[in-house]
Amino acid sequence: MNAMPRKRVAALISGRGSNMLSLMAAARQPDYPAEIALVLSNKVDAPGLATAREAGIATAALSHKDHPTREDFERAMQAILDEHKIDLICLAGFMRLLTPWFVEQWQGRMLNIHPALLPSFRGLHTHERALEDGVKIHGATVHFVVPEMDAGPIVAQAAVPVVDGDTPATLGARVLAQEHVIYPLALKLVASGATRIDGNRVITGEQASDHVLVAPTPV
Ligand code: GAR
Repeated sequence: MNAMPRKRVAALISGRGSNMLSLMAAARQPDYPAEIALVLSNKVDAPGLATAREAGIATAALSHKDHPTREDFERAMQAILDEHKIDLICLAGFMRLLTPWFVEQWQGRMLNIHPALLPSFRGLHTHERALEDGVKIHGATVHFVVPEMDAGPIVAQAAVPVVDGDTPATLGARVLAQEHVIYPLALKLVASGATRIDGNRVITGEQASDHVLVAPTPV
């Protein structure tokens, strides 16, 4: 019997690409159900593009500034995704709002990672805002993308403690370390077909305990 073909994933980035790297590392495992077939950036100078190129992954740089409207940009992006026969998209620090048109093309096939425990702290500067609000638990979320920003059925979350003396940088680093754990995990669940969307919930069956992580308090 043939093994199920690995899903072809495009990682969409705008910068450093550390989450993209964590997905690439996971996909090197022979039994991982997805391969990173393309890294696409809307910033031509994104450091993550060079990293991907060095790893021998196909890359595309498509500046949104070269396209008169958001939808023109997205149609160009869609053409590249089609050319590479992409099955799933992982937004990995892609700092561009997507139109409902594009989101609908990829409904149930596009994931995003957000540096907060959604639905808290949608948008930018999540670590600053978590500290300002004095929360004791912060974290990261992987979710399916829907037209509304930083919303959509949640696949995986990781919680981290907020500790005395934290700055946005120390807290952000603690969250990022967990992002690198849950994104490969969430992609594995989705690419292997283990997930089912039921309203706003993601049902993961037997692997339910795999997608909620609580990081220990640092010493
Ligand atoms: C990550 O922390 C990701 O969660 C965040 O941008 C960073 C990208 O880092 N994404 C968002 O804020 C999206 N709203 P990376 O380029 O090193 O993966």
